[in-house]
Amino acid sequence: MSIPQAIGIIDSGVGGLTVAREVIRQLPREQILYFGDNARCPYGSRSAREIRRFANQMIQFVMRHPVKALVIACNTAAAVVLEEVRSRTDVPVIGVIEPGARAAISASRTGRIGIIGTELTIRAGAYQRVLHRLKPEVYTVGMACPAFVPLVESGRYDSPEAQRIVEETIAPLTHEELDTLILGCTHYPLLAPLIQQAIGRDVALISSAEETARELSTLLSLHNLYADERASGPRHQFFTSGDAERFRQIGEAWLGFALEVQTAALDPLYQV
Ligand code: DGL
Repeated sequence: MSIPQAIGIIDSGVGGLTVAREVIRQLPREQILYFGDNARCPYGSRSAREIRRFANQMIQFVMRHPVKALVIACNTAAAVVLEEVRSRTDVPVIGVIEPGARAAISASRTGRIGIIGTELTIRAGAYQRVLHRLKPEVYTVGMACPAFVPLVESGRYDSPEAQRIVEETIAPLTHEELDTLILGCTHYPLLAPLIQQAIGRDVALISSAEETARELSTLLSLHNLYADERASGPRHQFFTSGDAERFRQIGEAWLGFALEVQTAALDPLYQV
C-alpha cells in the first residue's frame, strides 16, 4: 500500500537509517519510504556500472509510490548517479556528499580533514572534490574501510571483533594530525563510538545525516512541500530486498520504535 507524499530514502542496506533517523528527528511530521538493497550489499567494492544499475532499480521502485523528494542516503550510489538522477527526476533529489563536506569544513579549525568510506567513494575522490571546491587550501586524506559495512549489516557493530577491526583499520590515520574525520559511508555512524575511540577524542567525527536532513528541510520549504500540519502522525514504510527480520532488528535498535519491514523484489529487467 502506498502512502501520501513521502520522503523516499535509498541505501545499499541499513546505513541510510542513520539519515532516516535524523530526518525523523528534524522533520517529525514527514513520512518516510525507505528502501535498503540488503540482498546486494555491500555496494562499495562493485563497479560503477553495477552500482548505477542497482541504484536505478531502487529509484524506480521508490518512484512508483507518491514521493515528493528523494534522498540518496548512500555515498557510494550518490557518487555514481546523483547528477544524472537529478537531471531526469522532477522531485528534488539530495545526496549525502555535499552536506557532509560542508559540515566538515565548518567543523575543522586546522583544515586537516580525513575521509573514510567505501572503496568506490574513496577511489572516486567524491569528498575530496567537494572539499577542495569549498576550500582550496584544505588538506585531505582518504581511506577505504571495506571491512566496516559487513560488520554493520550483520548486526555485529558493537562486538569485540568490531572493536579490533576498527582499531586496526583506523591506526594509519592517527599519524595524520587530523582534526576532523568524515564518516563518508552512511553505515559508519553505527560504528561511531569505536571509530572515535580509535582516532582519539580530539578529532571531530562528521556524519552527513544531520546536514542532509537540514538540506532536505530547506528544499521542502523552498518547494512548499512540507507535510500538512493537520495530517495524522506519519506511517513510515520500510522495504528491503533482503531479510526483513534482520533489517527490523537493526532498524528498531537504531531508530528506537517498532518497524514494519517488507521484503520487496526489484525489477530485474531494468537496464541503463
Ligand atoms: N552505506 C553506503 C555508503 O554510504 C554503502 C555501503 C556499501 O554498500 O558498501 O556508501
